Amino acid sequence: MKSKVWIALLCAAFLCINCTPKHSDPAQARIDSLLKTMTIQQKIGQLNQLNAKCMSREQLIEKVQRGEAGCIMNVSDSLAYVLQQQALRYTGIPLLIARDMIHGYHTLFPIPLGQACSWDTALVREAARLSARETRRHGIGWTFSPMVDVVRDPRWGRVAESYGEDTYLTSVMGEQVVRGYQMEGLAATAKHYVGYGAAEGGRDYNTTWIPEVQLRNTYLLPFYRLIKCGCEAVMASFNEVQGMPLSANKHLLHDILRDEWKFDGVIDSDYGAIEQLVKHGVAADKKEATRLAIRAGVDMDMESHAYKKYLKELIDEGAIREADVDSAVKRVLQMKERVGLPLQPSVEEDYSAEAMELAGRLAAESAVLLKNNGLLPLSKQSGKVLVTGPLADSEGDQVGCWSPDYEAGHGITPLQAMQQRGRVVYSPGLRYSRDRNTRIIRDAVKAAYQADVIAYFAGEEQLLSGEAQSLADIRLREGQRQLLHALHETGKPIVLVIMAGRPLTIEDEMAYADAVVYAYHGGTMAGEGIARVLYGETNPCGKLTMTIPRHVGQVPIYYNHTNTGRPARQEPDIQAIPVGTKAHPAGAFSFYLDYGTKPLFPFGYGLSYTTYEYGSPVVR
Ligand code: GLC
Repeated sequence: MKSKVWIALLCAAFLCINCTPKHSDPAQARIDSLLKTMTIQQKIGQLNQLNAKCMSREQLIEKVQRGEAGCIMNVSDSLAYVLQQQALRYTGIPLLIARDMIHGYHTLFPIPLGQACSWDTALVREAARLSARETRRHGIGWTFSPMVDVVRDPRWGRVAESYGEDTYLTSVMGEQVVRGYQMEGLAATAKHYVGYGAAEGGRDYNTTWIPEVQLRNTYLLPFYRLIKCGCEAVMASFNEVQGMPLSANKHLLHDILRDEWKFDGVIDSDYGAIEQLVKHGVAADKKEATRLAIRAGVDMDMESHAYKKYLKELIDEGAIREADVDSAVKRVLQMKERVGLPLQPSVEEDYSAEAMELAGRLAAESAVLLKNNGLLPLSKQSGKVLVTGPLADSEGDQVGCWSPDYEAGHGITPLQAMQQRGRVVYSPGLRYSRDRNTRIIRDAVKAAYQADVIAYFAGEEQLLSGEAQSLADIRLREGQRQLLHALHETGKPIVLVIMAGRPLTIEDEMAYADAVVYAYHGGTMAGEGIARVLYGETNPCGKLTMTIPRHVGQVPIYYNHTNTGRPARQEPDIQAIPVGTKAHPAGAFSFYLDYGTKPLFPFGYGLSYTTYEYGSPVVR
């Protein structure tokens, strides 16, 4: 009986996804009646979220048959369909199949920090829609994105997944991504709720102290906007706020999300975050962590195995109410009813011409021109180009972090794109971004003498970007700086292209290049996008959405900072301080004596090949 109910439900949902109100009454009635028929173990099973990578196929199937999983993550295609069929057959309730699709599934678009620099919301929405289409085609109905953490510290590797330092822009970009997903029936997750990007020292998972007024002014708005546009889920972040980790933070989860904003979607834990309440020191053991999490309002337990193990015991002891579990299960069932599921594998191809063209266009529009002394745009008249640098021909790096479904061989690297546009000589100069074996620098220098202009692709391997990749030193790695100096010695003009997952402090390098383009990790078609900019096929229009500091010591540095009571009146000059004096000419104001107050490039900065000036509007 149950499976017939669900099949009918899912067919209805699948056929009219997103055209029914959030949870129509008939659907509500069906869910209520289903809930009444479920045992406590069946209910708890719905709150269990398992990582398919942590067990064998047989173990997975067995858990699904026993109703011990409500969601399986990191599974797709045939196994996803097998698991769905087993779930419907043995439990009558479909699984949520989930995946981290952050900036593309097979066709990878620029990292969100790059996409944001396009300021092109329509393009960002279309990229999300095409990514959702590829994702659902592989049997996945729920993704853990968009990430809408506001970020101000480039030492944090996860700035790559963000849309930058501005609250409003982050809200708008996140909203467009959710809408793009909704157009293809993919459920979205607003993450990481909340304040994860304010980790002390930019060190991942670290403590955050965010007063309520700053929470509301800076960090909460993107989540509010996404919830109001129908985002299905919110992911509670790893960090503690005011000493209370989100997975146990009743104020933020219950008082704000549920009571104040009336959010009735699913609150998912982050990976193992419920169990981590013990490490945080707020729970004596996993059982207490379970009690704190369900009471705070976490619906699904991602890979802590805490709910499965302790919820029933806690109910039997009267430590929690079954009603708390029921409301969580109800929200999960409501999400399943809305998300539906692809009922059979799709034969449409990934890497469609439409998706690849858009990926190239977005990579071009995400690139930010920081300097140009006239060297750009290149043309056939520019002569032979030496293409060099560790990112020049590294498809696996240009796709950026969170590219778990990346497949080699579909993309275009800068080297390939440059070879399509003119005479090129290639010498990498370094084998990878951290390479300190500068032996092959000599080869690149030799090759430079055969060329008329140098295109140097520097930056970060993708493994230096993303989760758990915090850096204390955000300069270009030593070997890359040496390569640039050696190339500069040749006297050939240099265009320096930075392909990275974060702002890097490149002040010193600026002097060695005639032109500088910040292209981030541009995705599958990064090379095509960058070449379009270098050759003027696309007029560079990218504008920074995250400040580039002069020095890491200035961090946090962002445009909408408070004024302080002593805003600097001038930039200090540490060398101008007379020896022996106590007072310095710049006066007692808020700055760094050595690095002043100004960044290398501020939020909103970006040049173009055309010239224009802002003036007061004239009515004609
Ligand atoms: C990770 C990340 C989160 C991701 C989740 C599932 O630890 O914090 O962004 O969605 O686990 O992979």
